[in-house]
Amino acid sequence: MNDNSLKNMYIHTIGCQMNVYDSERIARDMKAAGYDLTQSVSAADLIVLNTCAIREKAEQKVFSFLGRLADLKKKKPELIIAVGGCVAQQEGRKIISRIPYVDVVFGTSAIGRLPNLVRQAKSRRRRIVDVELAEKIEEAENTAEYPDAVTGFVTIMQGCDNYCSYCVVPYVRGREMSRTPENIIAEIRSLVSMGLREVTLLGQNVNSYGKKEKLCSFPDLLARINEIEGIRRIRFTTSHPKDLSDELIHAFRDLDKLCGHIHLPVQSGSDHILKLMNRKYSGEQYLEKVVGLRKINPEIAITSDIIVGFPGETESDFNDTLNLIRRVAYDGLFAFKYSDRPNAPAACFPDKVPEEKKKERLQTVLDVQAVFTLDKNEAMVGKTEEILVEGPSRKQPDVNENTESDSEFQWSGRTSANKIVNFSEEGQIFCDRNFKGRMIRVRIDRAFPHSLRGTPVYIEPPECKPS
Ligand code: 5AD
Ligand code: SF4
Repeated sequence: MNDNSLKNMYIHTIGCQMNVYDSERIARDMKAAGYDLTQSVSAADLIVLNTCAIREKAEQKVFSFLGRLADLKKKKPELIIAVGGCVAQQEGRKIISRIPYVDVVFGTSAIGRLPNLVRQAKSRRRRIVDVELAEKIEEAENTAEYPDAVTGFVTIMQGCDNYCSYCVVPYVRGREMSRTPENIIAEIRSLVSMGLREVTLLGQNVNSYGKKEKLCSFPDLLARINEIEGIRRIRFTTSHPKDLSDELIHAFRDLDKLCGHIHLPVQSGSDHILKLMNRKYSGEQYLEKVVGLRKINPEIAITSDIIVGFPGETESDFNDTLNLIRRVAYDGLFAFKYSDRPNAPAACFPDKVPEEKKKERLQTVLDVQAVFTLDKNEAMVGKTEEILVEGPSRKQPDVNENTESDSEFQWSGRTSANKIVNFSEEGQIFCDRNFKGRMIRVRIDRAFPHSLRGTPVYIEPPECKPS
């Protein structure tokens, strides 16, 4: 093939929102290098796998995906396979020893160098490994392309300095580093000019944004983003409870665009386990933060992460976790079985919990939480909520949720508290039927375990996009 012709690139992303954001940047940079995105693996000239190392299961997905590419590479030897992200950073050259047909391994700091690495792999016909961790944050150019997206992510900081004893992030994402407010704001403005209405700010611990570099505080950054014309909603993730300041709690009252939802991972309700995890707060201190948040905004939705079966977790420790879940009454939970990670100190901790026990505890957590999630959704019925319409409902029909009409077209959006609301078009007030990106007031009619259903009562008129 002529090297100047347009080539196809398939990107497969595993893991968190930060990886999704990184993959968007990869797509943008590689497009400038002549690669167009394709949805077909077999049509690709370049396959990029963006990986996650947070739990063993995520890492297994990486190797099973790569395993499935063996035949394709045999048939198409000129195909370039590039593996990036956290597993690439963690394993480096070992990935090539295990899967010899991988051409490029690029770490979490090497994303900006990928076009060059691919070029080198092609021209020199040799394997390339670039896993050097950056000491300074690399500012991507603000040329983001979100064709048509209503919501999107912006990374405000990278890495983590907290060293929770179970976690691989500090080793694969490096030291905590924050971007400047000017660059963040410029990126959000550019996204807004392309139609973005809601931004989710990403960082491993946004509460410590800018501290090391003596930039502004995170609440100050939020206040500056709140001033950007055209942005309707601001969300952020993730907050470490130990760094949740009163100033940030007050932002939920003072900033009109800041959504009423916080993801505040607790990990465990047992003080003994929290200490072993190096989380630097107790169950009571965590509960005080929850009380503080609800005092400022009684409607605020609180979600969390829980790890079950951490080494040394007894029945009594596990009961402390269940009690904390009951006392908080979360809006939603992500629960995980503890998994040993390379480099993370807990991998060497004694008293490992058997897999069967972890499985059983995970199910108990999910069962306890399911009641709260449904109760909270049912409490919404009859209320009127403002939602931002993101587009057509993704799951159609929702077979699990017994919708009245299986074939009915539905729009989907989220409330400020991040609850999904679906609604149909019947009885619309405007003939312009594209609701994407508009704020709509919806009366909630029905509650399901993972979504709500409503009827629009007010739809804001079509908006002129800022030029
Ligand atoms: N085992 C299980 N869960 C983990 N998490 C992070 N590391 C591990 C691990 N080794 C979970 C935490 C974190 C979420 C993103 O993943 O709950 O908040
Ligand atoms: Fe991992 Fe803890 Fe940092 Fe979160 S705060 S990324 S769990 S080390």
